[in-house]
Amino acid sequence: MKRLAALSLLALGLASFGAQAQPEFEQVEKGRYLATVGDCTACHTSDPQKPFAGGVEISTPFGKLVGANITPDSETGIGNWTYDDFKRAMSEGIGHGGKRLYGAMPFTAYTKVTDEDNRAIWAYLQTLEPIHNPVETNQLPFPFNIRTSLIGWNWLNFDRGVYQPDMSKSAEWNRGAYLVQGLGHCGTCHTPKNMIGGDKNDNFLQGTEIENWWAPNITAANHQGIGRWSEQDIKDYLRTGVNRYDIASGPMAEQVKNSSQYWKEEDLQAVAVYLKSLGVKDEKVPAPLKGDDKQMIAGRHIYFDRCSACHGSSGKGEKNIFPQLANNALVNAPEPVSLAHVVLAGSRGVDTDARPTAPAMPAFASIMTDEEIATVLTYIRNSWGNSAPAVSADDVKKMRERLTP
Ligand code: HEC
Ligand code: HEC
Ligand code: HEC
Repeated sequence: MKRLAALSLLALGLASFGAQAQPEFEQVEKGRYLATVGDCTACHTSDPQKPFAGGVEISTPFGKLVGANITPDSETGIGNWTYDDFKRAMSEGIGHGGKRLYGAMPFTAYTKVTDEDNRAIWAYLQTLEPIHNPVETNQLPFPFNIRTSLIGWNWLNFDRGVYQPDMSKSAEWNRGAYLVQGLGHCGTCHTPKNMIGGDKNDNFLQGTEIENWWAPNITAANHQGIGRWSEQDIKDYLRTGVNRYDIASGPMAEQVKNSSQYWKEEDLQAVAVYLKSLGVKDEKVPAPLKGDDKQMIAGRHIYFDRCSACHGSSGKGEKNIFPQLANNALVNAPEPVSLAHVVLAGSRGVDTDARPTAPAMPAFASIMTDEEIATVLTYIRNSWGNSAPAVSADDVKKMRERLTP
């Protein structure tokens, strides 16, 4: 449908403007690509039959927000908008009727997008089918539902302005920085948040909890980050959801499926170059628990019983099938949320065009106690080069409760 709309636009263009049609078609195609890079569908498409008609629920620590209808429907979408209205939403976080938008719409990142790129996205959005679908985006409880509170929020958390290239760096690095900080909005999930949900930019991409998962540190830190990954490893992960270290699950599986698997090779390469340049000074690496620690001995038994068949006796996994647990940023994360999540609920790695079937990790919620799960996680967090604080049965219990509807 979308392609048809773009084609008919081309036909129209050909009829009325002759030779000028080609640039217009190219702009729409570029906009389609950029909308994929920005992953607008993650929050704006709840029903694949109704692309961009809104309705995706986004849970925040303050309550629920819902992605708006951004199809060109004049009543319930943005059909009456001009380009300037659209640009204000992207660059300033101002939506319908001048209302301030919540940061769940990642305008704090999109503000970096250039005018040229915004024009392309706008051109593409206008080729979409208008869909009548009223959406109440603000479903937060009082007092968070009052939009005037966003004036203060923006003042504290929002640095408005297009990305400014760093002339001391290569064009490739700058492209990577532009994509990661801007449209790719990687910091929305990977940057720690302050009390009111704003990004702690001094800790850019250093890892945080999101929707019962841990979005790990993706700087080049060696212990908690991806310092050991090569540029190729980063590209493989973003393109296929898998590399020799890890498999994407949870929200990152969605990101790969909707977005990064479709990024151009040169854009992924730029992202890899940029991420590899981000270091963390003085990374704190705790000393691992000793092998004769009681929890370590018990954990080792459970590991060999339940886990080693897939993840290997020394945590090396099986390339592209079972993730490596040794020297794994996620395993070393300060909080064990993702680990408890995966062991309790199981998980299936992401399927991508490049890799249509993904292996699965079984759920252990019904066959292991909180104590046993905590013990085996403590063991993997302190073996084979990993070191991280022990996991308590209480941590696992809390995750079990959060995962039980
Ligand atoms: C992480 C979720 C998320 C992503 C990704 C996202 N949005 Fe949004 N967007 C929202 C939410 C939530 C709202 C409603 C916010 C509010 O009402 O305060 C919104 C609102 C908007 C609005 C304002 C609509 C109105 O009626 O005022 C526009 C325009 C918009 N988004 C465009 C985009 C585009 C284009 C992209 C991709 C480049 C995008 N969004 C990606 C969550 C998201
Ligand atoms: C919607 C939230 C979300 C967004 C947006 C997101 N990520 Fe992630 N990311 C995660 C989560 C959660 C994980 C952990 C996945 C897992 O447990 O397998 C992750 C994992 C990763 C990893 C693997 C780290 C490791 O040690 O295994 C890389 C690399 C990564 N993300 C890069 C990116 C980049 C680059 C972007 C922006 C283009 C991005 N992510 C955007 C949530 C997100
Ligand atoms: C049948 C094979 C199998 C068994 C048994 C198994 N796993 Fe997994 N495990 C997987 C697969 C496949 C994944 C990747 C799934 C995904 O990423 O969604 C995975 C993912 C994980 C992850 C997330 C790693 C990451 O970086 O994303 C952890 C942690 C983990 N397993 C721990 C364990 C523990 C602890 C046990 C024993 C209690 C165990 N696994 C048993 C197959 C298995």
